[in-house]
Amino acid sequence: MQQQKLFKKKNLNMNTCRISERVYYIGVDDHTTPLFESLWRLPYGVSYNSYVVKGEKTALVDTAPESFFEEYAAHIAELGVESPDYLIVNHMEPDHSGAMPMVAARFPQMKIVGNALTVGQIKGFYPEIDPSRLVAVKDGEELDLGLGMCLTFHTIPMVHWPETMATFFKAEGVLFTGDALGTFGALDGKVLDTEIECKERVFDEMYRYYACIVAKYAPAVQRALAKLAPLDAQTVCTTHGPVWTSQGLLPEVLDQYDRMSSWKAARGAVVAYASMYGHTASMARTVAEKMASEGMPVALHDLSRTDLSVVLADIWKYDTLIVGSPTYNASVMPPVGALLSALELRQLKGRRVAAFGNYTWASVATKKIADTFVRLGLDMVCEPVDVKMRPTASEIDSLRSLATAAAHSSK
Ligand code: FEO
Repeated sequence: MQQQKLFKKKNLNMNTCRISERVYYIGVDDHTTPLFESLWRLPYGVSYNSYVVKGEKTALVDTAPESFFEEYAAHIAELGVESPDYLIVNHMEPDHSGAMPMVAARFPQMKIVGNALTVGQIKGFYPEIDPSRLVAVKDGEELDLGLGMCLTFHTIPMVHWPETMATFFKAEGVLFTGDALGTFGALDGKVLDTEIECKERVFDEMYRYYACIVAKYAPAVQRALAKLAPLDAQTVCTTHGPVWTSQGLLPEVLDQYDRMSSWKAARGAVVAYASMYGHTASMARTVAEKMASEGMPVALHDLSRTDLSVVLADIWKYDTLIVGSPTYNASVMPPVGALLSALELRQLKGRRVAAFGNYTWASVATKKIADTFVRLGLDMVCEPVDVKMRPTASEIDSLRSLATAAAHSSK
């Protein structure tokens, strides 16, 4: 195994950092955007990571959102990079490519390197960039930076766009992976994983990032992990979150991504519900309390009050999911509908599930939840419990039996 020498920040701004002998971090933190993709809350912000590789020639790896260009350009200048030769584009989503036209304008000699799909997307998103500057590389192709330094390109399609690729700097064992192995959370100057103060928060944010952004592409993540493993990278530089190192958290991050993308989960349950007047909430509490009494970790979520991203993160963390809703306008409550839709979009797999609900004159919600689980091919641990108005003592017993069945079926 190749050993990497890590460097602490010195004489550099908060988020500019030396990663290895020839690799530097030049990304930016975002503490102001309230919703990532205009959908997902960012309670701890998010980082848009970019890097510099200095050989005889110099390469930038990815950029930043358009609105962060000035800060990003200042980071480049701070490293004394006056005329980069290449911009490597691992991922074209605008949180990483938005500043590309301005970077291209500032460094007119710089070539822009991607694969054929990348080039097509650059022409579509940024037609102001002269197409003669675009260089299309193939899977496995190398780019020589001089001094014996090469970058090798490895396509990892659908992680999480079709053009996505990883770039390997073999001389120092550094792999740039795009969104793969990324996480929410700004870095606040702690670029290396060895500097993380609250590891639990980082891994919780990784569940949330994966479940919200990447989960639909689980098979692609598995293919990418398998394809990149032989490179034996010692340092992994993603587009979001800390730089992972072999002496830091890289082994745990690889394991968590492997578990999430192969649908493995810990023993535990999510009980997610919505309730208009408290009866469905009471049923949910009955289920959660019974499961807890069986020794099962339980996350009880009122979908009208808990952000969907938090609920999804817990569903990707735990192996059991129980959903309840009253019938509302001949369907489920809208927050329950949003959850079921999110699960269908991501084609949830590998979970034990159960459904419950109530109604006053027309029973729809419980069946709708159960039908969603059947369509997804999930393992129903027992028959749904459907209640007319308030649950009777016998129906409360049925809810407890549902909880017991779920607890006993969990690993
Ligand atoms: Fe952070 Fe898929 O872009």
